Amino acid sequence: MRYHEPALVQEVVGLLEPAGRGEIMDGTVGGGGHAAALLDRYRECRILGVDRDPEALAASREALRPYGDRVRLVEARFDEAARTASANGPSLSGALLDLGVSTHQLDEDARGFSFRADAPLDMRMSQADAEAPTAADILNKASEDELRRVFREYGEVRRAARLAKAVTLLRGDRPFRVADDLVEAIAKAFRHRPTPSEKAQIFQALRIEVNRELESLEAALPRIRDALLPGGVLAIISYHSLEDRQVKRAFLDWSRKCVCPPELPICVCEGKADGTLLTRRVVRPGEAEVTRNPRTRSARLRGWRKAA
Ligand SMILES: C[S@@+](CC[C@H](N)C(=O)[O-])C[C@H]1O[C@@H](n2cnc3c(N)ncnc32)[C@H](O)[C@@H]1O
Repeated sequence: MRYHEPALVQEVVGLLEPAGRGEIMDGTVGGGGHAAALLDRYRECRILGVDRDPEALAASREALRPYGDRVRLVEARFDEAARTASANGPSLSGALLDLGVSTHQLDEDARGFSFRADAPLDMRMSQADAEAPTAADILNKASEDELRRVFREYGEVRRAARLAKAVTLLRGDRPFRVADDLVEAIAKAFRHRPTPSEKAQIFQALRIEVNRELESLEAALPRIRDALLPGGVLAIISYHSLEDRQVKRAFLDWSRKCVCPPELPICVCEGKADGTLLTRRVVRPGEAEVTRNPRTRSARLRGWRKAA
């Protein structure tokens, strides 16, 4: 079975056209699907493929082997890789982030992203840091307030307070260990067996907390901008409204002509924007793509180009 079916491939390849003759950082290389499409279309481009998950890197190493030394792979978080890339000045002609998790990660019970009954509540994309808390650690140790914040902010769960309370009550009897323990807490708080989409929302909220996903994106955005050469392009696919909001704000901010603080009476920055938006409106997959690959349903693509 294919490791991951990438979303919006033609749209991503189209946006990155101006980057096609240099090095493109694919910060979430996963199974290498987007990377291979870029390498096929732009014969002169090279890919710096980054992923924090060693299993993803092993899969992309295999998939991208035919491209030989046009591909370099690095195990890291994309915010760290972007810091390294920008350390000696701009070097990238383009960058791509396809956020979230891959189909392979979701489908493999042992990784703990799945809500199948016996799947362990782990959810770490990388086990490299043995000290990093798992989803079970968070459910067993976080305060009720903290849990409510995670469910409300990241999951937009309306009954977040009731769910946080149910978790703290249930963990008093028996620690949370597997997916079904959390499903039981949701059922108790909601007073019905949760629907698949309710489960997905809550599991996604925990995953975002476990992997500090919003923090990683926030740190990465300005570093990637700085690592881009003049005329370089950044394309980002997000699957969560908070991620998309961060991307939208950053791209708008970097495209404003005047960046002087509002308290200054006159413009002193000479009104030169850092770059321009390539997507005035967010790009979503069409009906045919969603039917073929339902996990692309929430994908939203935005692009930005650094001034030349
Ligand atoms: C949706 S998949 C990308 C799939 C890829 N575009 C493809 O074509 O196969 C997301 C990947 O990003 C990785 N990832 C998520 N957050 C990351 C981060 N902060 N740093 C590095 N990799 C990350 C995950 O481990 C996963 O492999």
